[in-house]
Amino acid sequence: MTPTTDGYVFATAFAREEERLALGEALWDPGTRERLAATGVTAGWSCLEIGAGRGSVAAWLADRVGPSGEVVAADLDTERLKWLTGRGVAVHRHDVVTDDLPEAHFDLIHARLVLQHVGDRQQAVDRLHRALKPGGHLVLEDTDTAALFSHPAQDDFLSDVKRAAYDVMCASGYHPRCGLLDVQLATDAGLVDIVAEGRSAVVRGGGDAARWFALWLEHLAPAMLARGAVTEERLARAQTELTDPAHCWLSQVMVTVHGRRPAPDTSGKVRTAP
Ligand SMILES: C[S@@+](CC[C@H](N)C(=O)[O-])C[C@H]1O[C@@H](n2cnc3c(N)ncnc32)[C@H](O)[C@@H]1O
Repeated sequence: MTPTTDGYVFATAFAREEERLALGEALWDPGTRERLAATGVTAGWSCLEIGAGRGSVAAWLADRVGPSGEVVAADLDTERLKWLTGRGVAVHRHDVVTDDLPEAHFDLIHARLVLQHVGDRQQAVDRLHRALKPGGHLVLEDTDTAALFSHPAQDDFLSDVKRAAYDVMCASGYHPRCGLLDVQLATDAGLVDIVAEGRSAVVRGGGDAARWFALWLEHLAPAMLARGAVTEERLARAQTELTDPAHCWLSQVMVTVHGRRPAPDTSGKVRTAP
């Protein structure tokens, strides 16, 4: 696996990428909002949404922090974020691995489905940590794909296609079990009070969430075919299987890792990890 920072696997042209991102938001936003709300994010907070994608989480944060707060939406590709400037969000082109951030500036930084795609993850998390105010919150969300498509009565359902798709993604620096790696990345960066948990959806063929998986395969199809890992016939059959309500499957597990930058306590000492 060759780690890269500029080889984001979904950066290739795909007419339905906007739709794919919107379906991902619909699937994961409710759980994300719950977890971000639990940090206490409120009026006046300064927030960074890194790898903001289409911007639904940044827009939600902007409503939450109000005019006295600040939300920055940063991404390699800012085209899909322009609509946010009318919502009081600052939109910046930013590479989380290589580009500097203001030091000790943010109360809350959130990244979902981003770190799993970048090569030097530790460097990225160290950078995010330094951008937090003392006591500030880092919330990382990445997936663990081990159980995806597993089913006790549907042996090998899509397992060949899953393997071929992740092979393409891994060649760009993606890690299919990054959600669990985030715990160690946050610990090694020096964050404290780290709490991690996972959530998963049961998806039925033909529904909106199933379309997220169908568009994932559609986006990756040219690269999968170029590698000779699957045939066009197999991909067509996989798309049919994804629309069949007789199939249901577990999504990836979305792992949320929440940690805080150490803050001096009232005695002036700095808290350390337990
Ligand atoms: C799978 S999308 C997730 C978008 C959004 N966070 C969400 O969950 O809906 C990954 C996003 O991360 C961005 N991205 C990938 N590599 C990045 C990097 N090195 N620095 C900043 N953003 C990056 C992509 O452009 C894309 O918008």
